[in-house]
Amino acid sequence: MTVPDITIAIDGYSSTGKSSFAKLLARRFSFQYLDSGAYYRGVTLYAQQNGLISEDNTVSDALEAALADGTLQIVTDGDAIRSMKVSSQVSPIAALPYVRSFVDRRLHSDAASGRVVMDGRDIGTTVFPNAELKLFMVASDEVRARRRYNELLAKGQTPVFEEVLANLRERDYIDSHREASPLTQAPDAFVLDNSSMTLEEELIWVEGLIRGKFGILE
Ligand code: DC
Repeated sequence: MTVPDITIAIDGYSSTGKSSFAKLLARRFSFQYLDSGAYYRGVTLYAQQNGLISEDNTVSDALEAALADGTLQIVTDGDAIRSMKVSSQVSPIAALPYVRSFVDRRLHSDAASGRVVMDGRDIGTTVFPNAELKLFMVASDEVRARRRYNELLAKGQTPVFEEVLANLRERDYIDSHREASPLTQAPDAFVLDNSSMTLEEELIWVEGLIRGKFGILE
């Protein structure tokens, strides 16, 4: 299927499988993939490594200064940004308006062409409000926690299911109640509930959507 040069914005709660799905779409349609959550995780890791965030999540003003000129290099891939330590402090960091504007600037400069699929919490509402296709992904809490738990197990960590579930619910709460671009469904987003769908079924669903929306006949 030939997909036109569009931007695809994928938002949704934690562990709804946004990244796996976005990566699959990028591969299938030859799009650039950008994981906006990785940028917030990178800023959090930077803050932790430089002693700028305390146990009770108080953030030093030095973080704002470090991000001010926009040139700071942050890690946006690898295992370090996916640890429980980063996961447990990323939401308060992502709630800071100066962190959000740093990440937004980075995302816009890294999104090289129109053929982009980006996933996060505010892509269809704030980062790319004019994206031609917006998806909002949801799945039950238990299904999401089980996925995250299995991911951590596979990485050799020793997660406790109840803790994973609690962390996920806490992040959802902070992400959807913060003042600066909270997680909300864009009015023109299509909802994808993948609680009991495989990735292949999700792909068939979105291909149907794209065909209908952009009048593709093949
Ligand atoms: O998708 P993720 O779990 O890797 O995202 C990490 C955190 O970053 C998540 O708790 C919320 C935040 N985030 C955000 O506020 N806005 C985005 N566009 C993407 C992520």
